[in-house]
Amino acid sequence: MKNARTMLVTSALPYANGSIHLGHLVEYIQTDIWVRYHKLRGHDCIYMCADDTHGTPVMIRAQNEGISPEELVSRVHAEHCRDFAAFGIGFDLYYTTHSPENRELAGSIYRALKAAGHIEVRTIEQAYDPLKGMFLPDRFIRGQCPRCKAEDQYGDSCEVCGATYSPTELLNARSALSGATPELRPSEHYFFKLDHFRDFLKDWVHSGRLPDEVTNKLQEWFEAGLQDWDISRDAPYFGFEIPDASGKYFYVWLDAPVGYMAATKHWCAEHGRDFDDYWKKPVDAGGAEIYHFIGKDIVYFHTLFWPAMLEGAGYKLPSGIFVHGFLTVDGAKMSKSRGTFINAATFARHLNPEYLRYYYATKISPRVEDIDLNLEDFALRVNSDLVGKVVNLASRAAGFINKRFEGRLAATLGADEALYRDLVAARERIGEHYSGREFGRAMREIMALADRVNQYVDQAAPWVLAKDPAQSDALQQVCTVTLNAFRVLVSYLAPVLPVLAERAGVFLNDHQTDWERLDSPLLDHRINSYEHLMQRLEMDRIKLMLEDAKQELAPTPAKPVMAPIADTIGIEDFSKIDLRVARIAAANAVEGADKLLQLTLDLGGETRNVFAGIKKAYAPQDLVGRLTVMVANLAPRKMKFGLSEGMVLAASDEEGGPFLLSPDSGAKPGMRIK
Ligand code: MSP
Ligand code: ZN
Repeated sequence: MKNARTMLVTSALPYANGSIHLGHLVEYIQTDIWVRYHKLRGHDCIYMCADDTHGTPVMIRAQNEGISPEELVSRVHAEHCRDFAAFGIGFDLYYTTHSPENRELAGSIYRALKAAGHIEVRTIEQAYDPLKGMFLPDRFIRGQCPRCKAEDQYGDSCEVCGATYSPTELLNARSALSGATPELRPSEHYFFKLDHFRDFLKDWVHSGRLPDEVTNKLQEWFEAGLQDWDISRDAPYFGFEIPDASGKYFYVWLDAPVGYMAATKHWCAEHGRDFDDYWKKPVDAGGAEIYHFIGKDIVYFHTLFWPAMLEGAGYKLPSGIFVHGFLTVDGAKMSKSRGTFINAATFARHLNPEYLRYYYATKISPRVEDIDLNLEDFALRVNSDLVGKVVNLASRAAGFINKRFEGRLAATLGADEALYRDLVAARERIGEHYSGREFGRAMREIMALADRVNQYVDQAAPWVLAKDPAQSDALQQVCTVTLNAFRVLVSYLAPVLPVLAERAGVFLNDHQTDWERLDSPLLDHRINSYEHLMQRLEMDRIKLMLEDAKQELAPTPAKPVMAPIADTIGIEDFSKIDLRVARIAAANAVEGADKLLQLTLDLGGETRNVFAGIKKAYAPQDLVGRLTVMVANLAPRKMKFGLSEGMVLAASDEEGGPFLLSPDSGAKPGMRIK
């Protein structure tokens, strides 16, 4: 092999708090195709990936399931491995960021950055959930959008009007975990001074290692100024504790990309290879080329923070960062309500994963564009290209060779050798499309060759030759040319369709897909009997798969999480509260208030006017006459709609309520509750 290269290729590390879906697969399939291509051409190429395990969402999900975060991430790891295997993603290692290597590398990179003065500690104020006893990430704060006033928006951005803001600007903010109103509390945080790397990053951005679209975007970010990056989080947090800062943890995005290195380290130890060859030794001194495949949503982390971290800690830079767009299904964002949010496992239960690999391949280019999975077009492409143009060649020719010639191919290609040579001559052109990630072009080129082979078969008409015993040699030759052409096409498709290539290898009795071997056609060679290589894709099966996807996403009632019990108080505190039985004498809606009812409460000897936020659950006329419980000695509060002289008691949580309390029968208005 000429010019064998040493390459390290990665895909972004999927979060360990969710399942792999068809959107993710846009990335893993394209990386896998690229890696398989390079391996096929004899390069020394490894594909590293891992689960991205740390952060608040994993911690909270584990709490909700009543298991430890370690248990959760190991269960999800097994699921992810199974899903990736089903789609033929051939990682050399699928590791985890919760590993000893990652702890050590993240720690040492941090120390190096700190020693060089790139870390600054300062106190900031952040939203804190007093009931949960923890600081809240923006995503765990919900409230009203300060711009358009839409309800129930995240702490960092509004899904209705698209505004971005800081959680302190949110109106009526609540913790999504406990419903408590977040407080601002001060805490020390550790910051990475990205701006120290401004000159370095300017050069890097123009080094030709990034897509042009991304370079332009980075230019805008530069102009906006490089902000310090907050790399610490307070306990409780599932992650690595910062070496010299107890109770502080690395923010998940600090150790996540280090996970690429940690996986390499683990793999090197198992394979007797040198870690520094991958991450330190320059490419021109024989070190590996590093390539990261990522989606457009995580460009900032990979093109600014990550190279700055590598540079600051004395590692080498990636040779390329490849950025892809997002998946749409039938022209729209994947949607749970439309049933187009499809998990990898659901797809694989119904359809051959290689169908998807091929379809994505027809759409993939080096440009940062979204790609659409149009389900009708998908079925059409698979059936007309793979089944109609490629697999059919084998099934048509195999019957004659096996029945008439005891499975033996002819000894020459005769006059049709030229066709074969043309197919082989396309090798480097197709190879360039693969290496340039122009997979769509590669597929079109291969299908154009398949069209030529099919024309050849139509003209040569082996089924006509078969009727004339005098044409026996011609028949064997045409079938030999056809099967050799099939072998070339399958070799070209092998990076995309490894399972088809493997099965075709069994059938052809010629297992290698090495492109150099195509120089010699299979002649006077024994093939095996033909087994179905790939079935047609029926629209009905897609429909079943979609049904299944819908079902799976039907909201399963989440296990309600009890809000934590508040701090203990003494009996003397409790006895200060004067709770009384009250009769609701009158109840009225309040003009201009969505949630409030105005209640007139009869305490036996006196009446009180109380505004209660129970309109959502009760119609005023249903309340009149019933008994309930009120706080009778609460200081009167001036509200927008009038004076509220007490409070009624009601139960509620995230999912239900309010439920008004009532005493058992026999209780009388004015009775004290003790
Ligand atoms: N954990 C981070 C990456 C850390 S890398 C050091 C993350 N995880 S993710 O699970 O959300 O996404 C993993 C990869 O899949 C990302 O590159 C992301 O862009 C890609 N995709 C996730 N959803 C996608 C689509 N719907 N379409 C295409 N790619 C998508 O980000
Ligand atoms: Zn809004």
